[in-house]
Amino acid sequence: MPYLSPALNVMTTAARKAGRKLIRDFGELENLQVSMKGPADFVTSADRRTEKILIEELQRARPDYSFLVEESGQIDGPDKTHRFIIDPLDGTTNFLHSIPHFAISIGLEREGQMVSAVVYNPVTDDMFTAEKSHGAYLNDKRLRVAARKTLPESLIATGIPFLGKDGHEPYLRELGAVMGATSGVRRFGAAALDLAYVAAGRFDGFWERGLKAWDMAAGILLVREAGGFVSDLDGGSRALEAGHILAANETLHPQLLKLLKAA
Ligand code: IPD
Ligand code: CA
Ligand code: CA
Repeated sequence: MPYLSPALNVMTTAARKAGRKLIRDFGELENLQVSMKGPADFVTSADRRTEKILIEELQRARPDYSFLVEESGQIDGPDKTHRFIIDPLDGTTNFLHSIPHFAISIGLEREGQMVSAVVYNPVTDDMFTAEKSHGAYLNDKRLRVAARKTLPESLIATGIPFLGKDGHEPYLRELGAVMGATSGVRRFGAAALDLAYVAAGRFDGFWERGLKAWDMAAGILLVREAGGFVSDLDGGSRALEAGHILAANETLHPQLLKLLKAA
């Protein structure tokens, strides 16, 4: 059974409640796909509704804590040593296109360190949790990063920059390097789940640039607690601040870092 600290308990309860609403909205979306503006506006409001539910639930249980949330930004509470970092809907483009691969991501930071993490896909009911020093879990199952040791046998996930994002050219060089050295590259469209899948040993590694703290906060703790290694793409430990990330097991991580740096 997963280790459920009181905070993690509060976080999973909030994620399940918000997830139920997100699922209803996901069902509704199918009726809206015919108009161009309809689905996009609807998803924006579904995103906001989910965020509101999460903030309300978490604030009820932890009224003093601070927040960093995708839409609302920084919300300072009296207690500035605790901060929830939240992406209410990671994988918005998938959601918009009725692709059932998206998640709610909640990380809890204490004095600048991630201590609890939840990544929840309400469609599959996959609840990924981690508590610092107590391991990472998928529902009741303890997670461990994959054991593969060489790039040719590895499956690597990534995020591809799109319209309006910087760095298309350097990204294509990185992709070229990784696709030529591994058994495959995947772009699933939800960074929080990409990291959770690394923790679960489904992907052997993941890299992306141009991310925000709420895309990565919970996922980073999941990977670390599953025995994996996380850095920014310079090899430093400031992925959250830098906005770029590389996650893998400790054998593959240096190999991938070298490959990406040389690209
Ligand atoms: C996005 C997803 C996607 C990643 C983008 C993120 P959103 O988050 O995580 O996989 O490639 O960079 O912005 O917008 O769906 O919350
Ligand atoms: Ca996101
Ligand atoms: Ca989002």
